Amino acid sequence: MAIFRQLFDDATSTFTYLIADENTRSALLIDPVHEQYARDRAVLDALGLTLKYVLETHVHADHITGGGRLRHETAAQFVAGKGTGLSCADRLIGDGETLTMDSITLEAIATPGHTDGCTSYRWNDRLFTGDTILIDACGRTDFQQGSADRLYDSIQRLLSFPEETLIYPGHDYNGKRVSCVGQEKAINPYIAGLDKAAFVAKMHALNLPKPKRIDVAVPANSLCGGADVGRVPGETEAA
Ligand code: FE2
Repeated sequence: MAIFRQLFDDATSTFTYLIADENTRSALLIDPVHEQYARDRAVLDALGLTLKYVLETHVHADHITGGGRLRHETAAQFVAGKGTGLSCADRLIGDGETLTMDSITLEAIATPGHTDGCTSYRWNDRLFTGDTILIDACGRTDFQQGSADRLYDSIQRLLSFPEETLIYPGHDYNGKRVSCVGQEKAINPYIAGLDKAAFVAKMHALNLPKPKRIDVAVPANSLCGGADVGRVPGETEAA
């Protein structure tokens, strides 16, 4: 049996996912947010869980990972996709490799495109897609080695899972929480009815503003969130 929680950071609309083994009380977090360190520790404590792993779907541009501080303050290991090349990670997980924590097994699926190191994780019938597939949207491809061409292929790969497979994205800006492969195929405007050429053209025409925190977040996340407790680069006074 497992424990599963979906947590949300209002400031950056980022989802963090908690998965734990109910018997051994071992836990992992996918995409924790630095400013939510206290929340994450409180949830773990309230459920009597021991954090074993922090997994990143990619090197984020919009927020600093909570993984650096969590790793420093607990025995947790920091795991990221091989494509990130993060030398600070405890483990770089490659496409098709699994991470097993007691009864919980996650499979890494390399899904480059939003960034070249993007990795999705499958846990049974659930996909944690990071910014590769968002609900009715997808991650942008105009920075961090982004490639609309590669993102198209990665999205198609995730869509090859059964239609009822649940999709838990890295963000949602409109209050949505969960989707499934079938729904995204049917109504996601970045997927439905678009071939690769049309998708690439649509992505190239987006013309989005630069993310507000990219100059702070990417350097910090390239160091796995920073090594010092509460002293990661660019930390705000409120954090
Ligand atoms: Fe992202």
